[in-house]
Amino acid sequence: MKSQLENIYKAATADLESASNLNDIEEIRTKYLSRKGEFNSIKKGLKDLSDEEKRVVGALANEISANLEKAIKEKYDIFYRKEMDEKLKKDRIDITLDGAYVPSGKIHPITSTINEIVEIFQNLGFSVLPNVLSPEVETEYYNFDMLNFPPDHPAKDMQDTYYTKLAPNTILRSQTSCAQIRAMEDSKPPIRVVVPGRVYRNETVNARKNNFFHQIEGLYVDKGITFGDLKGVLNEFIRIYFGAARPTRFRSSFFPFTEPSAEVDVQCIMCQGKGCRTCSGTGWLEILGAGMVDTNVLKNVGVDPEVYSGFAFGMGVERLAMLKYAIDDIRLFFNNDRRFLAQF
Ligand code: DAH
Repeated sequence: MKSQLENIYKAATADLESASNLNDIEEIRTKYLSRKGEFNSIKKGLKDLSDEEKRVVGALANEISANLEKAIKEKYDIFYRKEMDEKLKKDRIDITLDGAYVPSGKIHPITSTINEIVEIFQNLGFSVLPNVLSPEVETEYYNFDMLNFPPDHPAKDMQDTYYTKLAPNTILRSQTSCAQIRAMEDSKPPIRVVVPGRVYRNETVNARKNNFFHQIEGLYVDKGITFGDLKGVLNEFIRIYFGAARPTRFRSSFFPFTEPSAEVDVQCIMCQGKGCRTCSGTGWLEILGAGMVDTNVLKNVGVDPEVYSGFAFGMGVERLAMLKYAIDDIRLFFNNDRRFLAQF
């Protein structure tokens, strides 16, 4: 058995000697050292030997296979380096070639407008209402009833609002004002929050209207809040957002959930108030609705109107982005045309 082992070693060394590439080396490794290789079949014969012989022959077998393994590895490394060198020479990379263009992603202009507006209000002391308190799938109860809409209000019509089949009276919210109710149910005054979110209306889509868009709702309820506070906060917002004091006007208006109510216009940035197509010749553009929270709304959520008062506002994000960037078609925001989006 000893001479058998030595013969195998000799044969293997001769094979190694004549090997000329990595493939040959792999074959030799399999032939001699794998589980079905020649060494293993010898080692299997060990069990028929006496204990003394087992020890001697076993040790020799281990020594020889270890030597062989070492020799194979040395040869392997030599061939590996050689083949790698050849490959590197052959596959030379031309580092002067232009790379493939990978367009980078950008923050959507509506998202960045929301972030910008929210940050302005945060700096004025408002916090952002948690998302769980402003779901897009709402109930008529929050979207209309609690906000003091009469049961037969036209906004409740299917023509204007999307109803869902999820459960009776569930809708896609038509305004973020529902979050006013949720905020006041969730915590006691003082409350000073803004709520950004998407709203849906059953509209015919055109350059000025989309059937979904974004609003930012604001609510400030505390003792002694007045219409003067509302004007102060909104004027300050407009000054910061547009970067300079722009002429604004508060027009009296009506909303079921505020009394008194106002709509706020800023001077048209396209024509500086002279009158153009964008402002339908008026020189003014409406950017938000606002007012003092109606006493009925306060009572609905258990806030005593004798003690507390508040103001609320709701602004259209697309409208504000269009004014700032002089965009004349709301649909551009949602077509996902990269040529448009890449400009922001
Ligand atoms: N929810 C109103 C709308 O979508 C906007 C609005 C008006 C919000 C007055 C308010 C408000 O909070 O006080 O047309």
